[in-house]
Amino acid sequence: MKRRVELRINDENYEVEVEPHWTLLEVLRDRLGLMGTKEGCGLGACGACTVIVEDAPVLSCLTLAVDVEGKSITTIEGLSKGGALHPLQIAFANHGAIQCGFCTPGAILSSKALLDRNPHPSRKEIGSALSGNLCRCTGYKKIIDAVESQLDMIAEDLKMDPAELRLKNATRAGDTSINGLVFDSGDLPRAIIESTRHAGWHEKRERKTSCRGVGIACGGFVSGARPHRSGRPGEGGEQGRRANPAVATFSQGGGFLNP
Ligand code: FES
Ligand code: FES
Repeated sequence: MKRRVELRINDENYEVEVEPHWTLLEVLRDRLGLMGTKEGCGLGACGACTVIVEDAPVLSCLTLAVDVEGKSITTIEGLSKGGALHPLQIAFANHGAIQCGFCTPGAILSSKALLDRNPHPSRKEIGSALSGNLCRCTGYKKIIDAVESQLDMIAEDLKMDPAELRLKNATRAGDTSINGLVFDSGDLPRAIIESTRHAGWHEKRERKTSCRGVGIACGGFVSGARPHRSGRPGEGGEQGRRANPAVATFSQGGGFLNP
């Protein structure tokens, strides 16, 4: 039997008659016409239906509408204000982190929930926060780049040099990637230090004579280290490389810093 619930969505109150078994996803899309929340698998596996309830990312396909009565719900429609896109939406567009766009609302909302609770996450933390959001198109690097680019704005708010913030978050030898590979070499911190020195980064920041930003991108490619015979992640290194060479190649670091 239907019952009337009050839902608070994107700072607006909605009264809606729902069956007790209706999911939040069904109510958002079919009853309220908020079509920004996508239905992918409908089973809790893809993350396309992610919304924020209170401060946490939630799968709306697995959440009953009656269970979120009175709670604050944010959907992708609630992010832009007065016609202006949210900075994360701009970053996703600028970094090419959108192709078909089906996963994008969920990925942006998972990213927003992360940045709200941890304003300067490492790439690894960004990857973990997005691990429940599947994307068939972009390959994830651009999505993580887009989220990481928010560090520049955060650095500005903190009155911090964006390069210092990147240095703090840089992947170091001994760190583990989100898919369990261990970085057994590489020196991204040094790349940041050297590239800022060569670009005259600190002098340019001090001079502040130009209205134009200066970009520095640091990256690296890691290959060959992957789970091997034991099947356990993070056991690559020389042995893994010999056992199964050149099977994993990906990049780390990157981004543009605006003085
Ligand atoms: S539609 Fe909810 S997780 Fe896929
Ligand atoms: S952009 Fe197509 S699924 Fe992510």
